Amino acid sequence: MATDAAARRQTGPVRSDPAGVPVWTVSERVHAPGPDHHAETVYTVGNGYLCTRGTPEESGEDQWRTTFAHGVFDPVPLFVTELANLPDWTSLAITIAGEVFDTSRGEIVSFLRELDLRDGTLTREVVWRSPRGLTSILRFERFASLADEHLVALRVEVTPERAAPVRISSPLHSYAPSRGDGTTWVQHASPVATLVDGPAGRPDTIGLHVRTMAQHYEVAVALRHHARGDVTGQAHWELPGAPALVHDFAAGPAAPATLAKVGAYQTSRDGEADVAAAALRRAREAPTYEDVLAASRAAWARRWAACDVEIEGDDDAQLAVRFGLYHLIIAAPAHDDRVNIGAKTLSGFGYRGHVFWDTEIFMLPFFTYTMPDIARNLLDYRWHNLAGARTKAAGNGCAGAQYPWESADTGEEVCPAWLLGPDGVELVRIWTGDIELHISADIAYAAHQYWQVTGDDDWYYGHGADIILETAQFWASRPTLEADGRYHMRDVVGPDEYHEHVDDNAYTNAFARWHLTLAVALFEELRASRPERASALRRALGITDETLAQWSDIAGRMAVDHGEDGLIEQFEGYFDRTDVDLAAMEPRTRSVQAILGIEATNRTQVLKQPDVLMLLFLLRSEFDREALRRNYDYYTPRTDHRYGSSLGPAMSAIIAARAGLPEDAYQHFMLGAQAGLKDPRGNAADGIHGASCGGTWQAVVLGFAGLSVSEEGWTVDPRLPAHWRRVAFRFTHRGELQHVEIRNEELTA
Ligand code: BGC
Repeated sequence: MATDAAARRQTGPVRSDPAGVPVWTVSERVHAPGPDHHAETVYTVGNGYLCTRGTPEESGEDQWRTTFAHGVFDPVPLFVTELANLPDWTSLAITIAGEVFDTSRGEIVSFLRELDLRDGTLTREVVWRSPRGLTSILRFERFASLADEHLVALRVEVTPERAAPVRISSPLHSYAPSRGDGTTWVQHASPVATLVDGPAGRPDTIGLHVRTMAQHYEVAVALRHHARGDVTGQAHWELPGAPALVHDFAAGPAAPATLAKVGAYQTSRDGEADVAAAALRRAREAPTYEDVLAASRAAWARRWAACDVEIEGDDDAQLAVRFGLYHLIIAAPAHDDRVNIGAKTLSGFGYRGHVFWDTEIFMLPFFTYTMPDIARNLLDYRWHNLAGARTKAAGNGCAGAQYPWESADTGEEVCPAWLLGPDGVELVRIWTGDIELHISADIAYAAHQYWQVTGDDDWYYGHGADIILETAQFWASRPTLEADGRYHMRDVVGPDEYHEHVDDNAYTNAFARWHLTLAVALFEELRASRPERASALRRALGITDETLAQWSDIAGRMAVDHGEDGLIEQFEGYFDRTDVDLAAMEPRTRSVQAILGIEATNRTQVLKQPDVLMLLFLLRSEFDREALRRNYDYYTPRTDHRYGSSLGPAMSAIIAARAGLPEDAYQHFMLGAQAGLKDPRGNAADGIHGASCGGTWQAVVLGFAGLSVSEEGWTVDPRLPAHWRRVAFRFTHRGELQHVEIRNEELTA
């Protein structure tokens, strides 16, 4: 359910968007007292190397303050691994005339918090009257540099209404207390050393060097401070494992107290032996706050030039789309091909930073079409982790490589087998890590799509072929040939996770068939055009003519039923399950599974997400428009879109748009697009659901605009909602930037 605070957040321009200029800011003018974890997620800043939640600088009640850096995972004792919560650079303690700045005391005279999506800066301006009646203006600004991904920067300016002493202290703690969700309350990193640097007797830089408990990742952060104003004192304090720099100012209406910190993060994953020395060096060599900001702004401008989507006639949709793209950009590793984007990006504790099919099916297309270098990094993460996938396949008695349902740093399965259920008491068995198989085909699909859009033959016939062929070996070993002469895939979970232990899930089987067919074609292409590579693969993987014949045979006889009237049964026996009238369950604020329970929901036809519709979209060349309409009409009223999963709405939007129902499509689209901003499910405190951000981009570009890429080139087939006056977007096709503009029925490319 949407929280009050979420409802208060503006979805339109406040300050920096002159009338008529497309929206770029998420903002709020009303201060929400007390914890607001959703806001911490929304206002996350980052740069693809690290992200920091938008927790206010001053400490307060129950904050989920943290910085996450890609790839720095650490196991929770007796449980699974998760992203480590790292020392955080944003804390400040401010006193004005001896009174501690604390928004829960005194009075907030005015408040404006804004995230500028254009350049990734988060600002907050608070006019605060202290309990003793002194009014001050406090302006905060922070960002993570997109130009130099090791750098972060924050500035505060305090202006009291009359002359007053101001003290700004900048503390650094070895970790920010993580929330306790019943399973985790873990300090992942313990201090190795505190760091101090700068002129003798007057240090301007403090830092921390920490090491994670189990994996022994090393992380160092160094913060260099620049004070401006009438500085009357400066001191370096140190509690065990927690250094602080304190500045005293004589401030007044014409003499604000200003403190900027430019920080540098370094982890042992970066390959430098001495992380502490490297962080200190980076902080020392970094330019001023203003110069770091200018470079970051220029980098943001370059990013948006490659990927912006403009929607005229609908500011809410415009902002939601840009908000999603912003969150994808700040989570996307630009220079690292051994990490990937977790389901909740780097913006929260949800799903512990684990990587799911959310990347390949929902987020990756955005990168493939607009930032192919980043897409390749994300795909190479899977290539580097083939060993983990082989281990998983072998553990299940299968051949080849089976990708884990949840993946972290090593590529082994990290899906927890048990989790606390919705009542917070009972443990629930999680089957997805055991039997949700389709992710292996999803990854092959993404690899093939990357090749189609980019034409990157070297990658496709190299790493792409390794991924596709080894996972094909898995698909050839998992189904069973039965008495009816067909191959069946028993005991699986499809994308709709309300149904467990089902047979012949249509999505899984159709994808396995598609995958095996692709693998045969790919190997034949290799034999024809790159015989040496084909021979090497034949030797390494044991692929022979018999193998190819077997793959074709399995694909040809895979149990996939389209039904006589084009209606696809989601899995064997689905139509026999109880039909529930979802409308009759209204009003409700919880998922069907939370209301009915896991077992009872399993016995119904209610879906968490529209499995069959996803299949129709992804393998669209296999289905005609009638099939889209027929399946859309059947499955939509049975899908728990609002509370089930935020992955589904974008897919339903695309199918509805392609089936000629643009207004239906729009309703689905907005539900998915606003998942992070409006928090309809009440779970965005845990982080931004990256899949809904990526799905939103696909709904506009591949759904409403109908972009489609093939060997011959690309085409669009627009079906816009009636009130959208204009849609424009960019993408890169085979190395060339394309600009598409659709106005009503007119089309410019
Ligand atoms: C969805 C999965 C998804 C996962 C992570 C689950 O609730 O059912 O499809 O991969 O969340 O986002």
